[in-house]
Amino acid sequence: MKAMVYRGPYKLRVEEKDRPRIEHPQDAVVRVTLATICGSDLHLYHGMMPDTRIGHTFGHEFVGVVDEVGSAVENLKVGDRVMVPFNVYCGTCFFCARGLYSNCHNVNPNATAVGGIYGYSHTTGGYDGGQAQYVRVPFADVGPSVIPDWLSDADAVPLTDAVSTGYFGAQLADVVEGDVVVVLGAGPVGLTAARSAWFMGAGRVIVVDHLDFRLEKARTWAYAETVNFSQVDDVVLHLKRMTGGLGADAVIDCVGAEADGNLLQHVTSAKLKLQGGSPIALNWAIDAVRKGGTVSVMGAYGPMFSAVKFGDAMNKGLTLRMNQTPVKRQWPRLLEHVRAGLLTPSDLLTHTFPLDDIAEAYHVFSSKLDGCIKAAVVPGQD
Ligand SMILES: NC(=O)c1ccc[n+]([C@@H]2O[C@H](COP(=O)([O-])OP(=O)(O)OC[C@H]3O[C@@H](n4cnc5c(N)ncnc54)[C@H](O)[C@@H]3O)[C@@H](O)[C@H]2O)c1
Ligand SMILES: [Zn+2]
Ligand SMILES: [Zn+2]
Repeated sequence: MKAMVYRGPYKLRVEEKDRPRIEHPQDAVVRVTLATICGSDLHLYHGMMPDTRIGHTFGHEFVGVVDEVGSAVENLKVGDRVMVPFNVYCGTCFFCARGLYSNCHNVNPNATAVGGIYGYSHTTGGYDGGQAQYVRVPFADVGPSVIPDWLSDADAVPLTDAVSTGYFGAQLADVVEGDVVVVLGAGPVGLTAARSAWFMGAGRVIVVDHLDFRLEKARTWAYAETVNFSQVDDVVLHLKRMTGGLGADAVIDCVGAEADGNLLQHVTSAKLKLQGGSPIALNWAIDAVRKGGTVSVMGAYGPMFSAVKFGDAMNKGLTLRMNQTPVKRQWPRLLEHVRAGLLTPSDLLTHTFPLDDIAEAYHVFSSKLDGCIKAAVVPGQD
């Protein structure tokens, strides 16, 4: 089969790989019909994620058709059209039993903090991902769901990560009716967080980024006010002025470790690797939220420490909430919103590439060229 393969930072190829096999009775093999590139893939692409091995296939947002099932699989059959959450999880351990699917204790021998994620380096278990014609899906009775007939592949695929994550980010922001919510980052995750904050009762939503085309989408799609941080002297002061001097009730970090906006933080993280990513967006969040407010962190950070303004968070009495999204927990409510026409996930897909052009797809999405918000990848069949 054809699969995207990592050859080193900024170097991707499409190669022939063996089609995955059933390795365990609870496995399924899924023929991928549509995959996407997530902002998280960029951390791998840029060589920021530890233990990203040569030959690894990325891709943790994908939908497809069940091609083969192991002998113990009961809920799926060959031919089912399925959406697969980005989490690999067992469904039965202490953490899964509490809905903490992204923290499953049984699927990742390489780390105790995070569970398994498809196509996301050996730090998250080393599972090959869905930017390929086929993918092995462990615990096939647990994660995947059959896609309802009324939902297209293009609307289902962002539900396997970006849209569920944006929604989760808004949930963790503890929004109370009338709250002012600031969202940092206008990528697919931030745009969905902004849109979802209204569902939770926000009175005002403000999105911050430095890419005008994405801020435009935040205004038209997420009905948010916007701030371009490169056009104001001090973004925290600016946000404070916009929020009566006190700060926002909640700030959602949808940027993560590769934030722009502070050269020193960038150099110490991306270049010198002295910290596990630039915490500049997180520090803006801590500074821009009001005392007693909530910071929700969806942006991804590496396992190493980062220079986070923890003392300020402590002294302001903040609540900090965060996790990799337990995707399937979000689906029942999200599917209701999508069905009711309140949210159309495919609105985020601005570009589509054949798998053969995956290197170009990463380049366009990574460099935010051509108005790209999210890039889809079609593996096709030989
Ligand atoms: N928690 C999870 O489960 C989960 C799931 C998906 C993605 N993520 C993470 O969420 C983050 C966003 O994902 P995405 O797909 O939307 O990525 P993206 O790269 O498309 O979007 C990030 C946006 O942040 C903007 N940005 C950069 N520096 C900024 C700053 N200092 N302040 C405000 N905006 C800034 C960029 O211009 C860009 O538009 C990534 O870190 C990704 O790894 C986490
Ligand atoms: Zn992702
Ligand atoms: Zn588990």
